[in-house]
Amino acid sequence: MWQRCAYFTVLAVLYGLFFYMANMSFASLPKSKKVALTTLGVVTAGGAGLATMLHQSVKASDLELHPPNYPWTHGGPLSSLDHASVRRGYQVYKQVCSACHSMEYLAFRNLVDVSHTEAEVKVIAEECEVVDGPDESGEMFTRPGKLSDYFPKPYSNPEAARAANNGALPPDLSYIVNARHGGEDYVFSLLTGYCEPPGGVQMKEGLYYNPYFPGQAIGMAPPIYNEVLEFEDGTPATMSQVAKDVCTFLRWAAEPEHDQRKRMGLKLLMGSAILIPLLYYLKRHRWSVMKSRKIAYRPPSK
Ligand code: HEC
Repeated sequence: MWQRCAYFTVLAVLYGLFFYMANMSFASLPKSKKVALTTLGVVTAGGAGLATMLHQSVKASDLELHPPNYPWTHGGPLSSLDHASVRRGYQVYKQVCSACHSMEYLAFRNLVDVSHTEAEVKVIAEECEVVDGPDESGEMFTRPGKLSDYFPKPYSNPEAARAANNGALPPDLSYIVNARHGGEDYVFSLLTGYCEPPGGVQMKEGLYYNPYFPGQAIGMAPPIYNEVLEFEDGTPATMSQVAKDVCTFLRWAAEPEHDQRKRMGLKLLMGSAILIPLLYYLKRHRWSVMKSRKIAYRPPSK
């Protein structure tokens, strides 16, 4: 708050000075006033500089690490998602993250022809039990999952989720890479960035130090480490590999139209590469008559 007050005071003083100078020239002032004005200027500038410096030095966001830009294979304007990575990422989500995080906007059918075949997804869906009903006697019953079912949630309500996680709510991961600054760079850095707190920083019970998390104390225990799971395609499950794959999966989940969007972009570029020169040619052709026309006034001879 006080920084804002300082900024406004500085602005007001500067405006005052400006109008003062505009009305009378500095050179014509008596010496005492010149000295006073110069002192005021120097003090104001110094004060503003000091305020900015102090403001920068105590800014809490300085303690936060900003994620670097990682070279994602899907990062380029024409590059598609790595679907083998999406498939491994789903495995990571299912075996690790889904213990705490829901992905309530994804249905099993969404995986078909993206990371798995239809037959594979049916098997995955059938592995979970879904409450359905009521049947003819009015009872709810459980049945094996179907393609049209949504991913099962780990907790039935947010209160249960908080109660199981020391009061911290694990957010739904469906759109998480769009919901956080830095997208998958941030999630990757968060997952791989846990470290010892710096000297003098005490962590409360159930909180973990992570320099990428706003506030640095996160309620999620480090979820991944080397060999946290075994990939079904035999890829070595190093920590960074696991994090990269789950981030690619989360990017797909948040933006299922990703590949389609880039393909459309390419088509648009190719289409306009032909169309724009054609239109330009046509424009020159149509307007050439107008543009090369010369209108002259010839006064009638007497
Ligand atoms: C043991 C439970 C648990 C597991 C397993 C878990 N998380 Fe979390 N996660 C949490 C909790 C609790 C929070 C909320 C932390 C907070 O707000 O302090 C969280 C928060 C997050 C956030 C949001 C951070 C933010 O900026 O708000 C992301 C992203 C995340 N988890 C990703 C993952 C991924 C990816 C996995 C799987 C590799 C995973 N989590 C596994 C409990 C878990």
